[in-house]
Amino acid sequence: MILILSSDDDVHAQHVLHHIAERGHSATLLNLADFPKDAHLIFEAGQSKSRRQMQYRGQTIDLSKVSSVWWRRPQPYGMHPDVTDPVLDHFAIREVDEAIQGLWLTLDAEWINVPHRDENASRKAWQLDVARSVGLTVPRTLITTDPDAARAFIDYEGVDRTIYKPFQGSEDAWRETRLLKAEELDKIDAVKYAPVIFQEYIEATCDLRVTVVGDQIFAAAIDSQKASYRVDFRMDMNVAITPTTLAPETEASIRKLMSALGLTYGALDFRRRPNGEEVFLEINPAGQWLFVEDQTGQPISKAVADCLIDRARTGTIPKRTHPLMDTVLATNAPSLVRSDQTVAAR
Ligand SMILES: Nc1ncnc2c1ncn2[C@@H]1O[C@H](COP(=O)(O)OP(=O)(O)O)[C@@H](O)[C@H]1O
Ligand SMILES: [Mg+2]
Repeated sequence: MILILSSDDDVHAQHVLHHIAERGHSATLLNLADFPKDAHLIFEAGQSKSRRQMQYRGQTIDLSKVSSVWWRRPQPYGMHPDVTDPVLDHFAIREVDEAIQGLWLTLDAEWINVPHRDENASRKAWQLDVARSVGLTVPRTLITTDPDAARAFIDYEGVDRTIYKPFQGSEDAWRETRLLKAEELDKIDAVKYAPVIFQEYIEATCDLRVTVVGDQIFAAAIDSQKASYRVDFRMDMNVAITPTTLAPETEASIRKLMSALGLTYGALDFRRRPNGEEVFLEINPAGQWLFVEDQTGQPISKAVADCLIDRARTGTIPKRTHPLMDTVLATNAPSLVRSDQTVAAR
């Protein structure tokens, strides 16, 4: 059985569910936000036949039958309306998190992606370092809270040749990638409040979106330089997106990157320079692909469904140790305690 951890309104998950059903397999979408209000967990140990279950929306999920898990967009746990005291709510959610993290470790399943690898791989500083070490070209980059370091970097790159961007834009605090302008120089001191990513501006003929699913690489060119905003392709996506072929050395390095980060799935952003060089910008371990699939016809949703079905059957990841623990960087799965609840240090 396949488990998909995401939210109900995740269109990507719906597409994958459709392809899984088409192949005659079953999958359950589990929204962790339903814990603890609308879902229960049962874990027995010490009995000869122990139960490992989640009771969810009138259904019993037998965790011992879960053969693959898609760590797609797991949601923070919800709040139980009966628990009105924030201290108790915090305690309850932390306990839910502890219990569920333990349950994940008991699964004999393949994960796309293994949660802690997924989280580690999303860290910009680390992914840039690893990308460079596997032979990809990355922009000259400075991440800093030091205004003097920022000024020195800009001095070297040049105003109008330096971009700045956040680690994570969100709906309530959206920040697109911007070219730094001369009139913004007097605002540089603000980096002391929050670190900023500065990079050399990569002149491009197009942006590239590369979606990797297991061994398959789907590369698409985004005609970003014909858009109304040329510095960040997400600002105007009313341009052609077409299948493209990567340089063989880029493709080889991407395979090494996936392996070094321990990922099965990833959506990567590149820019292709006028001289053809492909420059790595970032990897999104749970990145979107439908905007590419819709325009290029590349069968990415089907590839994800196939991967979940086939990996579960063949167990292609060698199980030297438990898949959730087999890395030097091992930590538990990322905590899904809501961000409004600070977790006590321990
Ligand atoms: N150094 C850069 N030079 C030119 N364009 C960039 C640069 N960095 C980012 N961009 C543009 O901004 C977009 C968003 O940046 P990206 O690094 O993918 O971060 P994120 O998508 O997480 O915000 C890229 O897809 C690209 O179009
Ligand atoms: Mg991006």
